Amino acid sequence: MTNRYSLAVLPGDGIGPEVVGCALEVLDAAEARYSFTTARTEITAGAQHYLATGELFAEVEDTLRGHDAILFGSMGDPAVKPGILERGFILEMRQRFQQAANVRPVRLYPGVPTPIADLTPERCEMVIVRENTEGAYVGQGSTVHAGTPNAVAMQESLNTRAGIERVVDFAFRLALGRRKKLTLCHKTNILVAAGQLWQEVVADLATKYPEVETDYVHVDAMCFHLPLSPERFDVIVTDNLFGDIITDLGAVIQGGLGVATSANLNLDGTAPSMFEAIHGSAPDIAGKGWANPSGAILSLALLLGHLGEGPAARAIEAATVQVLGELPALAGAEMGLSTAEVGARIAAIVREGAANEALVPESLLGQLAELAPSRV
Ligand code: IPM
Ligand code: MN
Repeated sequence: MTNRYSLAVLPGDGIGPEVVGCALEVLDAAEARYSFTTARTEITAGAQHYLATGELFAEVEDTLRGHDAILFGSMGDPAVKPGILERGFILEMRQRFQQAANVRPVRLYPGVPTPIADLTPERCEMVIVRENTEGAYVGQGSTVHAGTPNAVAMQESLNTRAGIERVVDFAFRLALGRRKKLTLCHKTNILVAAGQLWQEVVADLATKYPEVETDYVHVDAMCFHLPLSPERFDVIVTDNLFGDIITDLGAVIQGGLGVATSANLNLDGTAPSMFEAIHGSAPDIAGKGWANPSGAILSLALLLGHLGEGPAARAIEAATVQVLGELPALAGAEMGLSTAEVGARIAAIVREGAANEALVPESLLGQLAELAPSRV
């Protein structure tokens, strides 16, 4: 039987279309080898589209909603005032589709240079789960006496028991299928009210998952432990803003934003989940063929794992890891490969069924389908 899925593809701006183009070439290769097909709808949105039409998320919401999953490139351009696309599109999508868990694997792949001296792949294999709909990201706040020396700005952070519970429960279930360790990252000594609620939820849910060991690390201490003793972490769960910050640190540890990837998961199947590299639109290098498409291709692997196409997802992850490991040597010998050449190399390995799956010993891909069901 051939499974069939409908995908919304949203390339966006800057390097988005280039890296998503590579991911789609890899998807073609996977469809030729495994028994599934996708019907893809390309959605035009982002900075250029906004400048031309004034349209943001609201105008594509219904179209996106009708799909099984969304593959997202990147969005943003200096010509659009900061905040418009972030709030009007990206955060709006996370909210309206209740993509409550932002899942960001932090793994050092073999052969990928890391700025952390002596770090080895065995020591760096974790998943950061960031709450994706609440906290400071709700955008509530007020300004009084703006533009005067007496200006006052207040910015609120929203924390609901229900919102925390669903993401912490997800993180526990993820940990259960891995090394069974869950670390809460917060700042409970200063953000006492929110911190207490997060700690309470973790303590309460810990009784439901007695096999999982729990631990707590303040976010500032996390910035120290994450690069220097990453082996301490299996699954980290944290609030929206702390998660935003520490996952960029995670990306640096694993060799840069080009390789880091993420899933924005809707946990109840009522709306599609969205998959994207964590880099931005990088307008300064757009169109030059310099962008690393690995993050986008790895996000395709997460998407296929989520849809239940585990074998194809694993092959894509393994092929990407293999090519990532070859890049430093190739860069030395041939001045480096272009975006399209990296994509084509990964696609060829997938098409030939030549991926070495031993390169991805512990993978979260198989867990995704059961942890966050696709559309009900
Ligand atoms: C991310 C990005 C977004 C965020 C921006 C683009 C709104 O930095 O996905 O981490 O702050 O969440
Ligand atoms: Mn970020």
